[in-house]
Amino acid sequence: MPEATIALVTGASRGIGSAACLALARAGVTVGVGYRSDPEGAEETVAKARADGGIALPVAVDVRDEESIEEAFRRVEKDVGPVRVLVNNAGYTKDGLAVKYTTENWDATIDTNLKGAFLCSRRALPAMLKARWGRIVNVASVAALRGNAGQAAYSASKTGLVGLTRSLAREVGGRGITVNAVCPGFVETRMTEVQREEIRKRYVEMTPAGRFGTPEEVAAVIAFLCGSEASYVNGSVVSVDGGLSA
Ligand SMILES: NC(=O)c1ccc[n+]([C@@H]2O[C@H](COP(=O)([O-])OP(=O)(O)OC[C@H]3O[C@@H](n4cnc5c(N)ncnc54)[C@H](OP(=O)(O)O)[C@@H]3O)[C@@H](O)[C@H]2O)c1
Repeated sequence: MPEATIALVTGASRGIGSAACLALARAGVTVGVGYRSDPEGAEETVAKARADGGIALPVAVDVRDEESIEEAFRRVEKDVGPVRVLVNNAGYTKDGLAVKYTTENWDATIDTNLKGAFLCSRRALPAMLKARWGRIVNVASVAALRGNAGQAAYSASKTGLVGLTRSLAREVGGRGITVNAVCPGFVETRMTEVQREEIRKRYVEMTPAGRFGTPEEVAAVIAFLCGSEASYVNGSVVSVDGGLSA
């Protein structure tokens, strides 16, 4: 990784995004901790990164809003420098059977999980191309690899994100930039905490590891893909799911 690498992680006020920030900060990366509605969560992540000796700053960014994305990148560029590492982690899910699913929920899911990642990547790429070095990691899901009743929108958004990953990898792979995706299985975060106990139990039974994953287990893979040692990993879709997709 080049010296003074700067990262922006979206949706990092808690969960996987927060853990990714801490893993990157420990690797010496200056981290922009993206948050939408939870500045306290972002401040907590920043404080933990700083306590570990890292450099971090909170950055407001709503990935459904192009202006907010522009402002976030400008803020990072002004305060610490150009973004060389982008982790498209912000995610939204609202489960429901397709037959009754509202257009509003469909749009919110696709706009956050897929269009948001595209808009952030498009904003990040010129500086990476100029530097001839960059890393984009998209946080997809096991739902990208297999369908899930009640998750048509979420699954479609994450499968789309894998398509975006592979196409971008081909577009920029000759310029020192890699674009990869991680596909977490069931991870202990707010996203899964809200599920009913019987559903959580079923998740565990489906997973060969026999347990939920931790945000840190996903963050370790994200941090690896963001580093220089992963320079020959491009367009990959890495499962981090305790064997769920095996
Ligand atoms: N947990 C799992 O089992 C699991 C499995 C597979 C994939 N994933 C993926 O992992 C990623 C992280 O999820 P998590 O489990 O850590 O969930 P989480 O704890 O619910 O965190 C989701 C994050 O995304 C942010 N976010 C939502 N909409 C946003 C928007 N429009 N703009 C910017 N940020 C936005 C949230 O911020 P606000 O609250 O401020 O909106 C929050 O920080 C997501 O992409 C998710 O799909 C999770």
